[in-house]
Amino acid sequence: MAKQDDIFKNVVSHAKEYGYIFPSSEIYDGLSAVYDYAQNGVELKKNIREYWWQSMVQMHENIVGLDAAILMHPTTWKASGHVDAFNDPLIDNKDSKKRYRADVLIEDYAEKLNQKAQKEIDKARERFGASFDEEQYKTTNPRVMEYLSKKKEILERMARSLETENLADVKALIEELEIACPESGSKNWTDVKQFNLMFGTKLGASAENAMDLYLRPETAQGIFVNFLNVQKTGRMKIPFGIAQTGKAFRNEIVARQFIFRMREFEQMEMQFFVKPGEEMKWYEYWKTTRLNWHLSLGLGKSNYRFHDHEKLAHYANAAADIEFNFPFGFKELEGIHSRTDFDLKAHEQHSGKKIQYFDNETNESYTPYVVETSVGLDRMFLAVFSNSLKEEVLEDGSERVVLSLPAALAPIKAAVLPLVKKDGLPELAKEILKKLRLDYNVMYEEKDTIGKRYRRMDAIGTPFCITVDHDSLNDNSVTLRYRDTMEQKRVNIDELAQIIDKEVNMKYLFEQL
Ligand code: GAP
Repeated sequence: MAKQDDIFKNVVSHAKEYGYIFPSSEIYDGLSAVYDYAQNGVELKKNIREYWWQSMVQMHENIVGLDAAILMHPTTWKASGHVDAFNDPLIDNKDSKKRYRADVLIEDYAEKLNQKAQKEIDKARERFGASFDEEQYKTTNPRVMEYLSKKKEILERMARSLETENLADVKALIEELEIACPESGSKNWTDVKQFNLMFGTKLGASAENAMDLYLRPETAQGIFVNFLNVQKTGRMKIPFGIAQTGKAFRNEIVARQFIFRMREFEQMEMQFFVKPGEEMKWYEYWKTTRLNWHLSLGLGKSNYRFHDHEKLAHYANAAADIEFNFPFGFKELEGIHSRTDFDLKAHEQHSGKKIQYFDNETNESYTPYVVETSVGLDRMFLAVFSNSLKEEVLEDGSERVVLSLPAALAPIKAAVLPLVKKDGLPELAKEILKKLRLDYNVMYEEKDTIGKRYRRMDAIGTPFCITVDHDSLNDNSVTLRYRDTMEQKRVNIDELAQIIDKEVNMKYLFEQL
């Protein structure tokens, strides 16, 4: 655990030191769970957003984009169920005075049982070698069966209690499992209470006439209320999708783990409208498609897993998370939800406007079903950033810190470095910079020794360094250094753009999808 904590601390301090993420309003000691993206962070975030947007909107002829406002008519949130049901069950520890999400305490306990079962399975795999049948072992080994069935039983009971609002039973479960406060070790708990996560604000100048509004807690509702507008003006035929990226706000009570759980964050959501009865086919399709999108970034297949929900949200008939192996373990990165016709029907009811799709082929009108994919941009950032940060010991025994970001996402694609600040080298370097910047974000750096500049670019995650030396003036060639292998090659200046493009152009990622 201590090691995990250290890795995570390194991620947070590296993000600050190299201009990726700062605490919000830091001169006033910051604001809890709110962060600012700095000069390099904003570029990485933009590139992740761009990769998501283009793979949704540009690569699918039946998906279009939208940018709805953050402020929406307040009835939106009544219809969506957020006013009544967007709650977290909270519990306080009376000794440490720390507040926790009761469901998270129970889920963490269940995950420990899962890990125990996994440990037994891994041991058996080693023992039996190639002939090992995991499924058979899971259903026959008494110890593994006991761990897994206890886990299932706990999660099912919690889901039932939360669904029926039986908060006393949620507390009873915590007590029966003897869950202790992670901070104090005490089992002295308060009752469980529900807490609404939406931030309220007001519209209007005078207190009497002001209208109560909410900052949107998800971008999805902006898509639902525009369903007919987009369908009609875009002449969209079902199945089709509407994609949107933008800020969402939640008054998270247990906000920690850096940008994993923030109060102001960004979502990338796509609502896919389908014919009723076809939603499970599309749900499976989007589960596979979204996992492939993540895998295309090359962060390692074993770092992803699906988690099917036992406890379904009020609007869903199936839901799964794509979990990522963050420095603090596997946690939700993206949600894929089969939302039925709940949202469109609810908006129809609350607005009094008919929200249906007319199918020309069958001459029928119906309320479409929806399959949603919803990924947090900040969580994507954390997944990419933390997975890329490495400390390496080199052959000569020295160490380097390298941020091996997928090249297509790196904030700066190449740094152009004159070996010395004289003899016409800066001038040639700037000429190269001028050409390359037509295509990509590149930078010029002449301060410090070349070795120090290489290390700095490794730490920022710049895939290429281009060094201009005295020979460059005569032979029109430069040294191209690769970040990950540290290989150095002599290449002609006229070939630079093409070589770099092959590594950093997003189109090569799209080809894998
Ligand atoms: N429209 C569905 C929806 O909002 P969700 O599971 O609550 O579903 C979707 O959120 C995604 O948004 C999550 O998988 C996560 O990546 C991101 N997310 C949710 N709450 C967040 C928070 N407080 N901070 C950062 N990201 C968050």
